[in-house]
Amino acid sequence: MSNYHIKNFEEYFHVYRKSIRNPENFWEEVAEEHFLWRKRWDNVLSWDFKKPEVKWFEGGKLNITENCIDRHLRIRGDKTAILFEPNDPKEAAEHISYKELYKRVNKFANVLKSQGIKKGDRVCIYLPMIPELAISVLACARIGAIHSVVFAGFSSSALATRINDSSCKMVITSDGGFRGNKTINLKSIVDEALLKTPCVETVLVAKRIKSTIEMKEGRDVWLQPLLDKADEECEIEVMDAEDPLFILYTSGSTGMPKGMMHTTGGYMVYTAFTFKNVFQYRENDIFWCTADIGWITGHSYIVYGPLLNGATTVMFEGVPSYPDFGRFWEIVDKHKVSQFYTAPTAIRALGKESVDFVEKYDLSSLKTLGSVGEPINEEAWHWYNDNIGKKKCPIVDTWWQTETGGIMISPIPFVTPTKPTYATLPMPGIQPTLLDENGKEITGNQVDGRLCIKFPWPSMARTIWGNHDRYRETYFSAFENMYFTGDGALRDEVGYYRITGRVDDVIIVSGHNLGTAPIEDAVNEHPAVAESAIVGFPHDVKGNALYGFVILKETGEYRDHTNLRKEINQIITEHIGPIAKLDKIQFTVGLPKTRSGKIMRRILRKIACDEIGNLGDTSTLLNPEVVQEIIDNKID
Ligand code: WT7
Repeated sequence: MSNYHIKNFEEYFHVYRKSIRNPENFWEEVAEEHFLWRKRWDNVLSWDFKKPEVKWFEGGKLNITENCIDRHLRIRGDKTAILFEPNDPKEAAEHISYKELYKRVNKFANVLKSQGIKKGDRVCIYLPMIPELAISVLACARIGAIHSVVFAGFSSSALATRINDSSCKMVITSDGGFRGNKTINLKSIVDEALLKTPCVETVLVAKRIKSTIEMKEGRDVWLQPLLDKADEECEIEVMDAEDPLFILYTSGSTGMPKGMMHTTGGYMVYTAFTFKNVFQYRENDIFWCTADIGWITGHSYIVYGPLLNGATTVMFEGVPSYPDFGRFWEIVDKHKVSQFYTAPTAIRALGKESVDFVEKYDLSSLKTLGSVGEPINEEAWHWYNDNIGKKKCPIVDTWWQTETGGIMISPIPFVTPTKPTYATLPMPGIQPTLLDENGKEITGNQVDGRLCIKFPWPSMARTIWGNHDRYRETYFSAFENMYFTGDGALRDEVGYYRITGRVDDVIIVSGHNLGTAPIEDAVNEHPAVAESAIVGFPHDVKGNALYGFVILKETGEYRDHTNLRKEINQIITEHIGPIAKLDKIQFTVGLPKTRSGKIMRRILRKIACDEIGNLGDTSTLLNPEVVQEIIDNKID
C-alpha cells in the first residue's frame, strides 16, 4: 500500500495512525517514492519549537521546478499543464502543455539571469492572473531566486512596504490587467511604489493591455523582446531542501505585514501530497482553483500542488460576475472541470443570484467541490451542495493558513463523510489540539478551545523574513511547545473539527485576512482623526465587514460627515487597498479603554454585532460612560 494516495476511510485511519506514530518515517516514504532528488537527505527532521527551528530533509538537494515540469516531459509532454481562461469569454483560452511550459519557464529564467538575478535574490511579482504570473514564479524557483508575489489588488504603498521589507532587487509587472469591465493600470501603481523603494534595480514589464505607459530609462524593460532572444534551455539551480523558495506576506495583528518564508523540500512534499488526497486528483482530471496566485491558495493549489502531480490547472483572469453571474459555471462546462475550489464569499455572492445562471450549464464533469479561506456557513454549504454539486460531489471544507503552506484539516472526498461547516479531520502527519486559556490541553470530544498544532509538518513557514523574534512571539509563545494558529475551534462528538473564527485582532473579510492595526494606522492618517478602533461584524456576503469607531480631533472645525467617511475610505484604499474599506464609520467622543489605556475591542465588537445584551463587566473600564453613548449612536 502506498501512503501517497488514500482511498477509503479505513485506510485514512490506518495511514493517519502510522503518520503520528512515526512522522519521520511517514514523510520519508512519501518523499522517497514520488519526487526527484539530486541528492538524498541526511536527516528527515530536526525541530525545536522553543527557538523555533524546524528543518525537513536536511542535506537533500533538489529543484522544485524539475519536479513540477521536467519530470513530466517524457510521459505527459503534450498534456496541458496550464489552461488559461481570459477575462473576456470571447478571447480564446490558452492551453500551455508541459513541453511548452518547460520552454517558457526556461526562457523566463534566462531573462532573469541576464538581468543579474542570482540564487537568493528576492524578486517581487506584481502581476494580474495571466500565464506570466505562474511562469515567473517557476522561473524564479528554477534559478533559486526567492519570489515574493504581491496580490495585484494591493495599493502602491502596500506594495512598497512589501518590496522594502524583503529588499527585492527586481519587480515583475505588466502594463495593466483586465478584471470584469475594468482595466487596471498596474504599471502606474508600481511607478508610484518605486518612488520609495531604493532596493529595486530593474522592472520587467509584460504586455497585457493596449495602453501607453511610461518606461523609466535604465530601470524598466519590456519582457517580450528579452524572451524572444532567450535560450529555451536553462539548467536548474540545485537547491538545499531548506533553501528559501518564497516569501508571502500576510496581515498580522500589529503594524507591518508578516513575510512568511517557505522553504523548498518540505513545501514540495506536503503540497503535492495534500493536492493528491484532498482533491482525489486522477490523471486527466481538470482542476480549477479560483483563487489569485497572490495568495497562498494560488501558490499551493494553482501552481505547485497541481504541477507536482502532472495535473492540468486552470488559471482564470476574470471575476465571477463578468459578463454575468454565470461565468464560473460557464467555465466549468466549457473546460469540463473535475475539481472546483473556491471561497465561501464567492459562493454566498453567487447564491444570491438567480439559479438560472447555474442551470444554463452542464456541470456533470464535477466530482469534488472545495471551500477555503473562512468558515462556510450552513446556508452557503447547502446552496453549493444542492445547486453546484447536485448532491453528488463531496464538499471539502479545507482549513489552513499562509503560515501552514498546505491544507491541514479537511475531509478527503469519497473517503471522509462530510458534515456542513466542519473541516472534519486532520491530514496525515498533522496533530491538532485544543487548548484552554491557561494553555492546558483539552482532551475528549464535544469541547472547544484555541487551535494549536503539536508537531511540525513539512510545509510550515520557517520564519518571518527578517524578524525571527516576531515569528516566535506570534506563533510559539502563547502556548509552550505548540504552534498557535490564532483560530478557535470545536471538536464534535466524533472528533470532527469546526473552525469557529479568529481569536486575535485579525478579521477575515471576503476571505481576505486583514489586521485591524494597519487599517487603524491608515485611518489615523486623516488630519481630522484623533483615534480609531476597528472591529468586524457579520455580513451576509463578505462573511465579515469592518466597522470603524473614530474619534475626531477637537479642532472645532465643522466637518461634513459623509465626506469625511469617503475621505477615510480613500486613505484606506491608498494605504492597503479597497478590500480594507470600512462598511460603517461611527464618529464618537470616546473609546472604551482599560486602565492601562488599551482599547477594549471586545466591547466594540459586541456593539457592532448587536450583542449588547451581554457586554460583560464594564465597571473596570477607565471610562464606562462612553459605552452607552456608543450604543445610542450605533450605525445600522
Ligand atoms: C485564516 C488564514 C488558507 C488559504 C486562505 C486563507 C481562516 C481558512 C478556513 C476554513 C474556517 C478558515 C482561518 C485561518 N480560514 N480556511 N476552511 N474554515 N476558517 O489564508 O489568509 O493565511 O488566512 O483563514 O481563520 O487562520 P490566510
